[in-house]
Amino acid sequence: MNKAEASLRARSATTVPGGMYGHKNVAHLPAGFPQFFEKGLGASIWDADGHEYIDMMCSWGPIILGHQNPLVDEAVRQQLAQGECFNGPSSRMVELAELLTDTVAHADWALFCKNGTDATTLAVAVARTETSKRKVIMANGSYHGIAAWSSSPTAAGIPADERAHTIRIEYNDVASLRAAVSEADDDLAALVLTPLRHDISRDLEPVSPEFARAARELCNRHNAVLILDEVRTGFRIDPVGSWTSLGVQPDLSAWSKALGNGHAIAALLGTRTLEAAATRITATGSFWFGSVPMAAALATVREIRRPESQAILTASGTKLQNCLRTQAASYGLDVNVSGPPALPFMTFANDPGFELSAVWARAALDEGAYFHPTHNWFLGTAHTDAVIDRVLNATDLAFARVARVTAEPGADRLLRAG
Ligand SMILES: Cc1ncc(COP(=O)(O)O)c(C=O)c1O
Repeated sequence: MNKAEASLRARSATTVPGGMYGHKNVAHLPAGFPQFFEKGLGASIWDADGHEYIDMMCSWGPIILGHQNPLVDEAVRQQLAQGECFNGPSSRMVELAELLTDTVAHADWALFCKNGTDATTLAVAVARTETSKRKVIMANGSYHGIAAWSSSPTAAGIPADERAHTIRIEYNDVASLRAAVSEADDDLAALVLTPLRHDISRDLEPVSPEFARAARELCNRHNAVLILDEVRTGFRIDPVGSWTSLGVQPDLSAWSKALGNGHAIAALLGTRTLEAAATRITATGSFWFGSVPMAAALATVREIRRPESQAILTASGTKLQNCLRTQAASYGLDVNVSGPPALPFMTFANDPGFELSAVWARAALDEGAYFHPTHNWFLGTAHTDAVIDRVLNATDLAFARVARVTAEPGADRLLRAG
C-alpha cells in the first residue's frame, strides 16, 4: 500500500469507527482502491499519495460540472466574502427558490436542507401532514437515505416498528403497486419512487411508462402524494424533471447531490397545493440556510440547465456506453451496459458475485480511471470527448486484463462464484 494511504488508514483506525464508515468505505471495493483523496480538478481526482485518476463517480454524484468548476468557485468566493451563516437566510435563498421553480416543471416552491435524506424525509412529512394519513409505499432495493422510514430490515439501531408504516413493492411492477395500495387501504399518504431503477449491484432499468402513469393515477385516486426522489438522477436526465417527457409530474420532488456541485445542499420542491402542509412541518437545521452552498447551487443550476451542458453529458455518456460494448466484444466478453448516458453502468454476463467487475475496475484504476464495480457511475460536463478517449484507453486495457483472467486455469471457479 502507498505510504500516505497506509499512514492515514492506521491513524483513522484508532480515531474513526472502523477506520471509515458509510458507503464510501473502501472495504466495499477491491483491494488497491485508495480511501483518501487530497485534490480534485476538472474530471480528475488525486489520492493521498498523489496518483491521478479520471473520476467516473463524480464523488458519487455531486460533481456535475467538474471539480473546482471556475463558475461555481467564483460564486463561492464572492459569497464567502459576504459570509456564510447568519440569523436568517441571505437573498441567495430567494434567488435559488426562484431559479429552481423556473427550472423544474412541477415546482411552485422550494425548501432547502443539506442531504438527500433530509429532502426525502421532509417530503414524507409533508405528505403525511397534507393527507393526515400514515402509510408510505416504496420499492424494494430503492435507496432514499438513512432515515428510519426507508431503512432496510437489516439496518442496525432501528427498531422494526419505525418501519411499520412503510410498504414495499417491486419497481416497475404495476400489480405489486396495486396490491400495496390495497394493503394501505384508506391510510395511504405517499408513494415514493426513484425516476428509474438504480439499485446497487444490478443493471439500471428505465421506468416503464405504464408504471409511472399508474403511480400518478393511483395517487390521484387515493388522495396520496406522489414523491419523486431525484437525489441521484437530478440534472442528469432532464433538468425540468425526469418524468416530464413521460407526461407524469410528481407532487413533490427531492433533490441534492448535483445541486451544488459538491457543496452541501438539498431541496424539496413542491406544487402549490402542498405549500400549506410544507409550512406546518418541522423543517430546520443549524446549517440549512447557509449562503455559500446556495450561491454554489445558483451557479451550478444556471450552468447545468443550459442545453450545451446537457449536450456534453449526452454525447460523452453515449460514446462511453457504445465504446464499452464494442471494446468488450472485441475481447469476446459479454457485458450489459445500462442506464442513461450521464448515469451509466456495466455488468458482465455470468458474474453474479461481481468478480469480473472487480477485476475490470481494479485494472481500470491501474490505468488511471476510477470506476466502481457494483454501483452506477456518474458523468459531468468535465468529461469532455478528449477525457472520454483517455478513459476508453484505460477500459480497453481493463477488458484485456479480464480476458486474460478468464482464460487462466481456475477461471471457471471465478465465474461460478457469488
Ligand atoms: C436516490 C437517493 N435518494 C436519497 C439519497 C440520500 O442522499 P444523502 O446521502 O445525501 O442523504 C441517495 C444517496 O445516494 C440516493 O441515491
